[in-house]
Formats: sequence, structure tokens, C-alpha cells
Amino acid sequence: MKRDEHLATLKTLGISGATTYREAAFSRNIGLFSPGEQDRLAEARVAIPGMGGVGGVHLINLVRTGIGRFNLADFDQFEPVNVNRQFGAKVPSFGRPKLEVMIEEALSINPFLDITPYPAGLTADTMEAFLTGVDVVLDGLDFFQFEIRRSLFNMARSMGVPVITAGPLGFSSALLVFTPQGMGFDDYFDVGGELPEEQKYLRFAMGLAPRPTHIGYMDLSRVDLKGGKGPSLNIACQLCASLAGTEAVRIILGKPGLKPAPSFMQFDPFLQILRKGRLARGNRSLSQRAKLWYVQNVLINAADKARVRIPDQPVLSVSQFDSLPQGVGTYLVQAAIQAPSGDNAQPWQFRLTGNDIHVFLNPQADMSFFNIRQTASIIACGAAMENIRLAAPAMGLDAATQILPDAAQENLMATVHIQPGDQGVDPLAQHIWTRCTNRRPYSKRPLPDWVQADLKARIRNIPEAQLHLLTGSSKLRKLAKVIYLADRIRTEHQGLHEHFTSMIRFNVQEAQQRRDGLPLKNLEAGLPGEAFLRLTKPWPAMRLANRIGLGRMVALHSAQGILASGAAGMVVVDGLEAKDFLLGGQALQRIWLALEHHGLQMQPMTAVTLFWLRWQWEGPASFSEKHQKLLERVWQDLKGLFVNVDFEKQGLVMLFRTGYGPGIRHRTLRRGAGDSLMK
Ligand SMILES: Cc1cc2nc3c(=O)[nH]c(=O)nc-3n(C[C@H](O)[C@H](O)[C@H](O)COP(=O)(O)O)c2cc1C
Repeated sequence: MKRDEHLATLKTLGISGATTYREAAFSRNIGLFSPGEQDRLAEARVAIPGMGGVGGVHLINLVRTGIGRFNLADFDQFEPVNVNRQFGAKVPSFGRPKLEVMIEEALSINPFLDITPYPAGLTADTMEAFLTGVDVVLDGLDFFQFEIRRSLFNMARSMGVPVITAGPLGFSSALLVFTPQGMGFDDYFDVGGELPEEQKYLRFAMGLAPRPTHIGYMDLSRVDLKGGKGPSLNIACQLCASLAGTEAVRIILGKPGLKPAPSFMQFDPFLQILRKGRLARGNRSLSQRAKLWYVQNVLINAADKARVRIPDQPVLSVSQFDSLPQGVGTYLVQAAIQAPSGDNAQPWQFRLTGNDIHVFLNPQADMSFFNIRQTASIIACGAAMENIRLAAPAMGLDAATQILPDAAQENLMATVHIQPGDQGVDPLAQHIWTRCTNRRPYSKRPLPDWVQADLKARIRNIPEAQLHLLTGSSKLRKLAKVIYLADRIRTEHQGLHEHFTSMIRFNVQEAQQRRDGLPLKNLEAGLPGEAFLRLTKPWPAMRLANRIGLGRMVALHSAQGILASGAAGMVVVDGLEAKDFLLGGQALQRIWLALEHHGLQMQPMTAVTLFWLRWQWEGPASFSEKHQKLLERVWQDLKGLFVNVDFEKQGLVMLFRTGYGPGIRHRTLRRGAGDSLMK
């Protein structure tokens, strides 16, 4: 028994009684507590249901504060996923009951503690006993344990026991104290009737933090109300323990200043903001109802819509591997087709033979003026090939790529040879399914140097490719001007305009049937922009818009995109042949996935680079005289910005903008893997 060992150790130090130990152990509390108050804390009994992220630190905090008695409940066991925030989650405690581990931790601090354990967790049967003789409850229940929390708060109220709840939200902690005299849980959160689970969680969260500070910087796509999971930091759990511990001491010692619900408080050290107030009608107040509606219908629904369905990875017995099993081949093709492609044309096809996946270019998919010598499509094929290469190792497979393996096979771009191996999974692989193009404005916050260095390092395995980054507002302003000029051509060139509008899926049914192209909402043009796109779909309408100057609005929008960014990047390769652009596509994909890895948004701005290739290969005469003049200015300014790029010898793969910002609200779709497989 650990307690006996600790008591024996104390004996060797000449400490044999609880009082002697207390006087030494908590002597530094004196000055903030009187000796009498410290004695009172030792007599107090605190109940903590839940020994996880918040409950665990509540316990340790209060043990060190000198509380002498506890009722503790938890049914769960520690596992690695708890490590980021739960006090007891350590390698030796994996698989062990949280309650047992935390009691050991508490007794190692104060072996004289009086602890009543509830190893089945808090249940309806044990709740009354759990609350009996208790001075205060500190809520350590998981955020998603709604019904048991509600019963606890209501029973505590009827038994005259105050309950403190402190929730870790982002970097912040939001605090509420429910006393028998103050407002009740059901009233405050407005959860009296029957409600769907998600509504209950939402009302709890919004009541906890009525003026939420954390929503602005939290990635809401990581909140899974259905699955009962969400982001949570140790930093915030520690803050919860500090805020709740202060109130616990205030209540036990009868110190002044208690502000029970409907008063609320949220402290956010990240934003250096303290929000406090009083919500007289709880969630029933008009402002809360409006916020609940907004969070549910705008923020959460948008995050839901943009959520990706990631297919299950096939389980593979490598020992039985002789040729690529059908399921594995299909899964790898599914990974491949998540790659980006110009206007989402998906200009690829795949053939599975033996252990090989052959990547073919489909030249019919994109015959646009943009796609000079199929370069945009070749880049897309390179990106798709990289996805296969990245996805294979997670199944215990090695992938070796061969670029243009057989000149006799028309349009064969690459072959990926798959075999059992232990290559190790590249962290970029996890982003294959979530990477996307984001056309919303981003923050202008610059990319930290270490992020810039990391992005460049991610393509070290492709020595032929380089990334050049442009930062700082004056350079971005110059680039915006370049983009403005080049993008004017997009609306003034009939072929380009007609191709682009043919790729827009103006209604949802069309988008879902065809599963290619650009769903209108994905373009993030806003309602006026969408109306403009609909109206100017026929070329005569666009021509008219150009004549009266309205066409330039489109170019202005692109230029504004550059201004609303943290940086711009240019991916280049050493060479101008198809093989070079395949490698370029591979490098581009790695950079794009790395941007996602760093929480950065990205939008390609390829008009300029593809126009340059056309200019180089087909000569200026492939543009109208007016556009030639425009482009001459563009080349001059672009070369002045990217001074380290050899515009004549290197292949410009892609120009893009990037930055921190809100996620997308509408995804593009993909045709099924089966549709991309060649017989
Ligand atoms: C070669 C290439 C050129 C592209 N050019 C542009 C562009 O000029 N502007 C833009 O907004 N998106 C551009 N995109 C992004 C595609 O439209 C996007 O990848 C495609 O619609 C699929 O959507 P997703 O990236 O969100 O998966 C380009 C993508 C590729 C691969």
C-alpha cells in the first residue's frame, strides 16, 4: 500500500501525525490563509467527479492548498490520447484506472488525506452519497457528459451544495458557480425540455462562455459535437484549476466576493481578455438566443459542410502481399484524386497492374487556353502521384516512383511501384484528404521564419524544385498590381472566359451529378459576385461588362486576395519539359500539404505563370496586341519581384498566396475512384 510507504517515510523525518505534517507542508499558505483557515480547509470535503484534464488538476491543486477530504469518481482508464492535458496520463499509467492513479498522486502529496472513491464513476445510484457531507463540488466531468452533469447540478442544489464549473475553452477558462440561492442549471442553460444532444452541448458551451473569446482562433472543423470530441489544452485546464480553486476556497472559508450564476467570467490569456458579466435570463436572453442561432446555423453548419469524409484505410496483411490487392489499389487511387487540378478538371486516369499504379494524363479533360501544352494537367498528375507515394506507407507499403517510365505508352506520366516495406509515414500524408483551395481573405500576419524555412525543407527530397517566398506589404502590393494586370486577360479573352464558366457548377444538383469543376459557393465570390458570374456567363454579357469597365472587378478581386495574405510563393523547377513539371507538381503538392500542416490557407494564382509559359513557347503573338502590352509590364514587374528565379531556364510551376485565416465553407467534389480507373 503506497499510503503506508509514505507514512513510513515521514516517520523517518520525525513526522508522525497529520497536524505536524500539515503545519510543515502548508506553512507557506499562511499569510494568505490564517492558521485557523488552514485548519478549516483540512476539515473540508470536496467532491470531484471526473479525474481527467480538469478534474485531475482540480484534485492536485486542492490537495496542495490543504483540503483534507475528498469524494472522487471516475470509471475510465488512462490512454495515450489523454497525455496532452490530463495530470495522471503518463506511460506507466496507460491502461490503469484514472481514479486509482490520481488517488496515488494525491496521497504522495498528502498521505493523511481522507478519500472516498467511486470507481464506477458518478451514477444516479451513488450521486446522493457522493454529495453527502460535501462543502463544494468541482465539476471535472467531460464536456460531453451532459445528462449526468445536469443531474449532479440539480441534486447538489436540492441538497444545498454549491457546484463550480470551469471549462477549458481554447487557451481560456470560463467559470460559473452554482449556489443553492443563485440561478439553477436548467434555468441558466435553458435545457429544461427534451433537446437533441448537439443542442445540449451547444447551450452548455454558450452558457459557459456567453461572450466567447476563443471562437476566433479555434479551428471549429476540429470540434466534433456528434463524436463528442474537441480541441483542449493543458494550459487551459491549469487555468480552470486556478479559477475554480479560488472559488472553492472562497466558498469553504466564507470569504467575500462570491458571484454565483447568472454571473459569468472568462479569462483568456492568449487574447489578454477578461470577460465578465451577468446574464439575468441565462441562455433565454435575446442576445444568447441570437448567438446560439448564429453558432449553430452559421459556424457549425459551415464547418460540417466543409468536413471531409475520409475513407477507411484497408487493413493489409503484408505477409500475404504478392500483387496489389484491389481494395488497396482503389484506396491509393482515392488518395491520388484528392490532388488539386486546374478548375478541378481531374485530368488523370489510373491503371492498376500487378504491383504498379500507372498515372496517365487525360488530355481531353482540360483543353483550355490556360492549359498550354497540358502543363497545368501535368502538374496535377505530379500532385496525384505524390499523394499515392505518401498514402502507401501508412499501410506498411513502400512506394517507388518512376517519372515518364515508358515513352511508347502515350500519356503515361508516372508509375508508382508498391511493395511491402517500412519506409515510415510522412507526416504530410495525414493532410491528403483535407488539403484544399481557399479563396477567402486571409490575415496579413506574416509567416514566421521557422515556418518559411520548414516549407522549403519539405521539398528537399526533390532537388530540382525550389520555393521562393515573397513577404512584406510593399512586395505584396507590387505583386497585387501584377496579378491585377494578368487577371484582366482572364475576363477579356473569350476562350478563357468560356472555359472558366463551363467549369463553374452553378447549382448544387449539377455539382453533385458531375462531381468535377468548381461549385459556385467554392469560389467565395459572395452574393453580388455570384450574381455577376451568373449574369456574365454568356460571352456577349461578359464582353459588355468589360466595355463598361465591370470586368476589371474580377481582376481587382484577385489583386485584393494578394493584399489579404501573409505571403506569396512561387514554385519553380530546373527545366521546361514534361518530366520537370511532373516533379514540379510533386513539389507543389508537398508544399501545399505542408501549408495545411502549419494551419495556413492557400490559393493558386496561376494565370501569370501559365501565360508566361505560353509566351515562352508560342511567342507573344498568341495574345492580342493589347494583352501583349499588358503582359510586357507584367513580366518586368514579376522578374523584379522574384529576382532569384531564372525565368528563361526554369519552369514556373505555380504562383500562390498563403496566410492564416478561416477555413473553407464549401468543398469541391471528386469523381469516384472507379471512374478514374482504366480497364
Ligand atoms: C495547375 C493548377 C492551377 C490552378 N489555378 C488556380 C487559379 O488560378 N485560381 C484558383 O483559385 N485556383 C486554382 N487552382 C486550384 C483548383 O481550382 C483546385 O485545386 C480544384 O478546384 C480542386 O479543389 P481543391 O484544391 O479545393 O481540392 C489550380 C490548381 C492547379 C493544380
